[in-house]
Amino acid sequence: MHIPATGMPAAAILATLRNFKAHDMDWQAGRVFAYVYQPDEATAALVKDAYMLYLTENCLDPTTFPSTAKLESDIVRMLANLLQGDEQVAGNVTSGGTESILLAVKTARDWARVHRPHILQPEMVLSRTAHAAFHKAAHYLGVRPVVVDFDPVTFAADVTAMEAAITPNTILLVASAPCYSQGVIDPVEAIAALARTHGLLCHVDACVGGIHLSFLRKLGAPVTPFDFSVPGVTSISVDMHKYGYAAKGASVVLYRDRSLRRHQIFASTDTTAYTIINPTALSSRSAGPLAGAWAILHYLGEAGYLELVATVQAATARLIEGVNRIADLRVLGQPAMSMFAFTSETINVFMLADVLRRRGWYVQPQFSTPRSPRNLHLSVTYGVAHNVEALLTDLAASVEEVKAQPPFDRDFLQTVAAALADDPSPATLAALMAAVGLQPGALPKETALINEVLDALPDAVANAVLIDFFNELG
Ligand SMILES: Cc1ncc(COP(=O)(O)O)c(C=O)c1O
Repeated sequence: MHIPATGMPAAAILATLRNFKAHDMDWQAGRVFAYVYQPDEATAALVKDAYMLYLTENCLDPTTFPSTAKLESDIVRMLANLLQGDEQVAGNVTSGGTESILLAVKTARDWARVHRPHILQPEMVLSRTAHAAFHKAAHYLGVRPVVVDFDPVTFAADVTAMEAAITPNTILLVASAPCYSQGVIDPVEAIAALARTHGLLCHVDACVGGIHLSFLRKLGAPVTPFDFSVPGVTSISVDMHKYGYAAKGASVVLYRDRSLRRHQIFASTDTTAYTIINPTALSSRSAGPLAGAWAILHYLGEAGYLELVATVQAATARLIEGVNRIADLRVLGQPAMSMFAFTSETINVFMLADVLRRRGWYVQPQFSTPRSPRNLHLSVTYGVAHNVEALLTDLAASVEEVKAQPPFDRDFLQTVAAALADDPSPATLAALMAAVGLQPGALPKETALINEVLDALPDAVANAVLIDFFNELG
């Protein structure tokens, strides 16, 4: 494709862009139980207007655009207060949970360079339920992730295993509030106490839970303490673009105090160009996400968030009860809020996800681990809450549909997994993709068979296969 020689009319361009979405899942109908966090229409419209109002302002230079600094400090203060921090707490708005986590790990690494200079190969200890963003941070920053297993019944981090994993090289302990996969809160108090005992930092990943859980507590529900009220918690990530219902591109990373946050900031006067002072990973960035986040916090206020949380919790309780009533399905662990996962001992849940997709629903397949079975994840948000009964009806019918389908050919699957494990090269992958009916560079419509193969592979091989597959796209 080339840039067109002459421009196209605006109306045709917008029509084409709308058309591109024709094959996307219909999130606006509230049938996508992941990826999208949609408030009511009036709130969503306000967020969009606020975003567009600041689309062009650049957060890179708050001396040129002081409004961007004002938006950022207001958002940071509101969330620091919500998370029971005092005026010492300092933080920044980032582009998302991954960037917030990346920065928290970088901060820990650079804090250790100053305060634990003998450590040459820093390590962080985390449960297998922690988000992949920590593995990405480890990969980018040269910090070794030491992964420990979780309680296979509750899915909470195993604090005894975490303690056993601490070495003289450990700099950081990680807790999730909750973890994404099964929606379970780790024993944050015990993990933070462990960090204090060993002179370590402790990051709480409250990317999904920080806002929702705080309001759930305000509604009177029992919520495991997870925020700055817990001694020993040194940093927290909390996403505005998840259960804060803001537009994508807005997360917050908070530190107990400025002496810690200092390690996050990068400055450079080393070039022929303008002075760079970047508290976050990105340099130029639109102030749109900040304006969207600032707007929704003011528009909903505490009362609005309490209402959203109450609606979502009622829908989640009904959904969990309905799933557990289907004899073939079982909810995993003890979900703390509005995200959970279920498994089956009798049917193939990867096939179930495809059957549901054919009926217009998106639920998210998750792989097995040595301690947990393959399962399907659902994030319940305001935008999908009205569809719970409809989903339960289709879920029951889909379970029966899967039972009527022939199972995958075990021999074929084993051959595929063995071939990839032996030789995870792009050539083997291309041959196997063709065997399962996939063209290189094409996105699959149905994923059960692919997930079946990936789930059977060791993580390192599956990761290599996925990297090669994506490398062929686009
Ligand atoms: C617990 C948790 N942490 C971090 C992230 C990463 O957030 P993002 O996708 O905004 O980078 C997610 C995403 O779902 C998450 O659930």
